[in-house]
Amino acid sequence: MTRRQVRVRAPGKVNLQLAVGAAGADGFHPLATVFQALDLYETVTATSRTDGQITLAMDTSRALREAWGEDAPAVPLDESNLAWRAAEAVRERYGVDAGVDLHILKGVPVAGGMAGGSADAAAAVVACAQVWDCGATRAELAEICAQLGSDVPFSLHGHTAVGMGRGDVLSPAMVRGEFHWVCAIQDQGLSTPAVFARWDAMQAERAAAVPEPTLDAAVMQALSAGDPFALGMALRNDLQDAALALAPHLEATMEAMYAAEALGVIVSGSGPTVVGLARSRQHALGIQAHVKAARVAAGVVTASGPTPGAVVVDDLEVAD
Ligand code: C5P
Repeated sequence: MTRRQVRVRAPGKVNLQLAVGAAGADGFHPLATVFQALDLYETVTATSRTDGQITLAMDTSRALREAWGEDAPAVPLDESNLAWRAAEAVRERYGVDAGVDLHILKGVPVAGGMAGGSADAAAAVVACAQVWDCGATRAELAEICAQLGSDVPFSLHGHTAVGMGRGDVLSPAMVRGEFHWVCAIQDQGLSTPAVFARWDAMQAERAAAVPEPTLDAAVMQALSAGDPFALGMALRNDLQDAALALAPHLEATMEAMYAAEALGVIVSGSGPTVVGLARSRQHALGIQAHVKAARVAAGVVTASGPTPGAVVVDDLEVAD
């Protein structure tokens, strides 16, 4: 007996800009954001099962383990995991009876504001749709991704994209060349709802009307010019102050990146990962060494973007 096995890789991301508006009746905040996919990947392997069961196992990539030590936050391996929910969503949509063994190889920091869980979900959607031969269109896959979470459609899409709505309404951005990043990982994650709630409280204190979220043209200009200096100056994250209020030690991480001449430093998404933009790959390695020596992060990894979204890297028959 053989079983079909499909392996899919999906990237983590940084938000180059994240503008937040006042929450709507559904509790979600309207966003205007620019995502860039980085070459830190989640790899999800789906192996079909005839008995209808779903199982989930996980390993951490060597690079992440080396950066992080043994202190990586735990991820649940049950039905609450987004990859598991992705498999169930595909099964429901296409009326599939078969099951699947899912294996995740983590290369994106956990609970870091870099969409590691969203990349798992996007990769699992693509892998399950293929392993069960659902005949899904790309548009259908994107719809399923949007049901699973605001950042999941971008993990499917990849490259660099503008996200409106909850961040799930995407359009591609024009980008020249490659950008080099340094990501400082913390050993305590931040909860996205908690950061949004803190942002709400900060707005309430200000007692001024919250404007509609809009994109700054400077980011798009810097991207299309391939100009890291201009991009460094244009980086902006409306959630940053809320993340810093919940995790004040991140200030020291940001300072260390600036001390190593990062062109711009920002909290990624809802944090707590702090990302710095470098002039070159070489400069990124220099910033990494500096931040490591300053001992202001649990781990430091370098990454480059943009990189493609979810791609099938293997589709095999394996012996049972
Ligand atoms: O969509 P996702 O499940 O990733 O969102 C997690 C939480 O983050 C939501 O439950 C909500 O509290 C918050 N969120 C938000 N506005 C968005 C996206 C997320 O308030 N646009």
